[in-house]
Amino acid sequence: MRKMGSKTIVLYKSESGFTKQYAEWIAAALKCDCAEAETYDFRKDDQTIIFGGGLYAGKINGIKILIKNYDKIKDKKCIVFTVGLADVKDESNIEAIAASCKKQIPEEMFSNIKWFHFRGGMDYGKMSFLHRCMMWFMKTMLSKEPENEQSDSDRAVIENYGGKFDFSDRNEIDTLVKYCL
Ligand SMILES: Cc1cc2nc3c(=O)[nH]c(=O)nc-3n(C[C@H](O)[C@H](O)[C@H](O)COP(=O)(O)O)c2cc1C
Repeated sequence: MRKMGSKTIVLYKSESGFTKQYAEWIAAALKCDCAEAETYDFRKDDQTIIFGGGLYAGKINGIKILIKNYDKIKDKKCIVFTVGLADVKDESNIEAIAASCKKQIPEEMFSNIKWFHFRGGMDYGKMSFLHRCMMWFMKTMLSKEPENEQSDSDRAVIENYGGKFDFSDRNEIDTLVKYCL
């Protein structure tokens, strides 16, 4: 249920729950509502829209929903957070994610958005068959790399294939939350 007077909404598209977890952490910190983006009816009285999507082959899951509704949100404070495996403490990873995000949306929209990038994990039990197949391929490719060239996420993919691992960190939301307050 939407709380009375709430003007901030956290929307998400999440395949295996990591983006949803960040959305829930953010909504709890901001004391606002959180909803699946696909079923959300964009409202005039929303002042701040926060959208989160997982990264899949460099693409932001669900970003099309925001693009489709851009007319309704362009005059509002708009924040997007991505959730992926890459270590976001490494500036070169942030640059690569940002460059890829930029290609996926119109330029005006890209510059109107405040971006944040978080780290998720993998849970094969909640993954689609297609994604499991893609990860099998990825794991096979990564296993051929020399060990000293593998990142911690590469190693997590190799060692935990078929299982679960989680790099999510609730502390990562602090800068986003401060930006919204
Ligand atoms: C098929 C596939 C492709 C992925 N591609 C990327 C990627 O390009 N970059 C990245 O950082 N993470 C990538 N990931 C990792 C996901 O972003 C990560 O599992 C994230 O936590 C998913 O969030 P969700 O469960 O909320 O959808 C990929 C995962 C899968 C299964």
